[in-house]
Amino acid sequence: MADPAVLTLENLAKRYRPDRPAVFEGLNLELRPGEYLAIMGESGVGKSTLLNLLAGLDRPDAGRVLIEGTDLATLDDDAITLLRRRAVGFVFQAFHVLPYLSVEQNVALPLELLRVAEPERSARTAEMLSAVGIAPLARRYARELSGGEVQRIAIARALVHRPRLVLADEPTGNLDPRSAAQTLALLRAQIKANCAAGILITHSRSAAETADRIVILDGQGLHPEAPA
Ligand SMILES: Nc1ncnc2c1ncn2[C@@H]1O[C@H](COP(=O)(O)OP(=O)(O)OP(=O)(O)O)[C@@H](O)[C@H]1O
Ligand SMILES: [Mg+2]
Repeated sequence: MADPAVLTLENLAKRYRPDRPAVFEGLNLELRPGEYLAIMGESGVGKSTLLNLLAGLDRPDAGRVLIEGTDLATLDDDAITLLRRRAVGFVFQAFHVLPYLSVEQNVALPLELLRVAEPERSARTAEMLSAVGIAPLARRYARELSGGEVQRIAIARALVHRPRLVLADEPTGNLDPRSAAQTLALLRAQIKANCAAGILITHSRSAAETADRIVILDGQGLHPEAPA
């Protein structure tokens, strides 16, 4: 039997206001373990809106989001929060790194919320800090670091609990080209190593090409690029 999908979208639609047209309608998608997808599309087409629905941070007006076969609509807010903690890792553009915690405290946070005990918690945190190349900064406060270093914290924190679904919204938007390339390589390597499913949202063609395939979000929905 084929692996079950990590993420399934069925006819998904979102409308912010009843008097305004839907941001999108009829979106369908399936992602299997180890599949890494880039979504591109013009500003305002609803890419961030879509990620918020996938993460259960917002609810659709029609259609379904299933994570590992569980329909998010069947869960109350507490259950969605638990599912998100366990199964989802995000890298958002405003990384939500906490400035007054140390680098290692920031990265350990998802494990603490999942009540992963010592010594496993410290071991996994240290392993992740090394993987993203910021182990020497472990004891520094996040507020003392550069933008690129903070972005690495955000990536380490999104992946430390080995989520099945990794969502990244412009994770390299504020990085120089070299840091951006390193960050994207790292994101890809971690997704593949954990056999997770990944979605990368980006305006950058070269960033999108680090994923396995690219789909476009526009007024027609989600679809592969038309051949040039
Ligand atoms: N909370 C909200 N309330 C009302 N409208 C919203 C809200 N969030 C987004 N929108 C609108 O929904 C549309 C899609 O916004 P969204 O942020 O998803 O676009 P995007 O594709 O991520 O754009 P960008 O590439 O600029 O990040 C836009 O027209 C936006 O103004
Ligand atoms: Mg956006």
